Amino acid sequence: MKIAVLGTGGGARAHTAKLLELGHEVFVGTRDPQATLARTEPDMMGNAPYGQWLADHPGTTLLTFGDAAAAADGLVIGGIDGHNAVAALTAIADGLAGKTLIDYAVPYVYQHRSEHPWPTPWGVMPKLEPCDTDSLAEQIQRALPATKVVKSFVTQEQATVVHPAAVGGGDHTMFIAGDHADAKQQTADLLESYGWSDVLDLGPLVCARGMEMYAHLHSAIGFGLGQQFGGHFGLKVVR
Ligand SMILES: NC(=O)c1ccc[n+]([C@@H]2O[C@H](COP(=O)([O-])OP(=O)(O)OC[C@H]3O[C@@H](n4cnc5c(N)ncnc54)[C@H](OP(=O)(O)O)[C@@H]3O)[C@@H](O)[C@H]2O)c1
Repeated sequence: MKIAVLGTGGGARAHTAKLLELGHEVFVGTRDPQATLARTEPDMMGNAPYGQWLADHPGTTLLTFGDAAAAADGLVIGGIDGHNAVAALTAIADGLAGKTLIDYAVPYVYQHRSEHPWPTPWGVMPKLEPCDTDSLAEQIQRALPATKVVKSFVTQEQATVVHPAAVGGGDHTMFIAGDHADAKQQTADLLESYGWSDVLDLGPLVCARGMEMYAHLHSAIGFGLGQQFGGHFGLKVVR
């Protein structure tokens, strides 16, 4: 399939590499391909400059966000930083129309001021906005009525999303939520191709609120395990 991955961060790289391994044609979106390739410093998460990563992953086509979305047959993975995702996706609505958009972004606002800050090994914990009464996924769906938005992947580090067997022999749970049954099936099929056997459909897109709000617990579990940020563990719904 021709699949678009919008984003050049660590999560997007994990999906891009996995999709290439599975034999898909991958179109990666960035704001400005030339500027992205000209970077020489690691990104804020410490990932190597994208050009270096690309050299190790031949077969990837780097385009603008809009051109990458337009190049996809029907499936787009959204890996744009959560705080900027609605504006960036709204600007390319035409290329996303009629397609499934899997959103895994967390609506983090970094370096916020807080009355009761939560100091973490990587600074003050970012706040979530929106939170509780709305979600980023619902905002994206409202902004893109012609696109089928599915929330998924967000409850794990992307390294384990694309390689579930890396923890617990793969015996853990991945969640999906959305308002379009065919788009959720497409997402479940993709997850199965990644190696997932326990995909739990939470129901309508409003359930994305719970997935996004889990972000703080995800970080706290990582700290509890002594893994700091980016730890590899899974969630299992036992029933
Ligand atoms: N990494 C994970 O394991 C993981 C897991 C769960 C959820 N998430 C969430 O998923 C989202 C993406 O994560 P990530 O780690 O893959 O990447 P990220 O570093 O959070 O985001 C990088 C992407 O956001 C784009 N971006 C940044 N500022 C922008 C702006 N002002 N306008 C338009 N685009 C902008 C960048 O564009 P350029 O390419 O032009 O630089 C880049 O493609 C985040 O919300 C993150 O919290 C990540």
